[in-house]
Amino acid sequence: MIMINLIDKLSRENNLTRDELHFLIENRTKETAEYLFEKARQARIQNYGYDVYMRGLIEFTNYCKNDCYYCGIRKSNRNADRYRLTKEQILHCCAVGYELGFRTFVLQGGEDGYYRDDIIADIVSTIKTNYPDCAITLSIGERSYESYKLFFEAGAERYLLRHETANLEHYSKLHPSNLSLENRKQCLYNLKEIGYQVGCGFMVGSPFQTIDCIVEDLLFIKEFRPHMVGIGPFIPHKDTPFEGKPAGTLELTLFLLGIIRLLLPGSLIPATTALGTIHPRGRELGILAGANVVMPNLSPADVRKKYMLYDNKICTGDEAAECRMCLQRRIESIGYRLVVSRGDCKYI
Ligand code: 5AD
Ligand code: FES
Repeated sequence: MIMINLIDKLSRENNLTRDELHFLIENRTKETAEYLFEKARQARIQNYGYDVYMRGLIEFTNYCKNDCYYCGIRKSNRNADRYRLTKEQILHCCAVGYELGFRTFVLQGGEDGYYRDDIIADIVSTIKTNYPDCAITLSIGERSYESYKLFFEAGAERYLLRHETANLEHYSKLHPSNLSLENRKQCLYNLKEIGYQVGCGFMVGSPFQTIDCIVEDLLFIKEFRPHMVGIGPFIPHKDTPFEGKPAGTLELTLFLLGIIRLLLPGSLIPATTALGTIHPRGRELGILAGANVVMPNLSPADVRKKYMLYDNKICTGDEAAECRMCLQRRIESIGYRLVVSRGDCKYI
């Protein structure tokens, strides 16, 4: 009964206290999860109906100057086969994507100094000129306020930068000491101030994560009010210090998707590729738990296997068109529909 009351309160007030969140997560069961998902679906349907938005992910560089312990493209991974896409290759991905109905392009990459601010701004403004009806999302890590402003003025409207964990001590167990949670958060606040639609998020079940860490993540998300929240299970990569660590679970990821939908009912929440990697129907289950976005890959087939953040990533052997059709089938199979739309956030 306590659990049902908590979920009702969360659904009514879109908020819970620290202790209540902790209790809810700690005492979750199959039955309470089902009840949570029902409430989460109601909230997502109220805001977004049965629409699922798609984002075309263009992984344009796997060079990275950082050394995050969890990530397969960390700079110390000598086994990573590095690549960079040219502007022309990126534009080709957009052309293919546009034909397939994509109206958002996400340019994602490691923190790669090769792409100076002027190069990024030029790529962004060319895409914007060619496809004025599309949204451009950047996901290229931490840069200065001025850089972010330049990209915004060039036409980028959205930015994804997961905070990774909102707990200071946990942050230092996932990252080398040159990276700080403080700077990460500052970047997020800068992006918001400039006017971006901003996405933050974290990995579920990353090494050393506790329920307290997760509660801090949820409280940070509630306070920051991002337009988008990306969460997916941690999955170990064989060439990182976290090789052999257990992956995050489907069950906990789904439960947290449900909570986040109710904390921020109007937000855009992807059913991530990592979720699809740990379970064959992970993305469908993610949508049924409250997610409303999918982000299939538009990267050229010959580089896909090289953007390996974690082991066994799905869709690395498929063409963009195959993923588009596959996802459409999957989404329709659960009674939702994949739409041709920019899919902007509705509540801000
Ligand atoms: N498992 C799951 N997600 C990962 N990411 C990076 N490495 C992994 C991993 N091993 C996530 C991070 C990053 C996003 C692009 O991918 O949260 O922000
Ligand atoms: Fe890529 Fe199904 S989404 S093959």
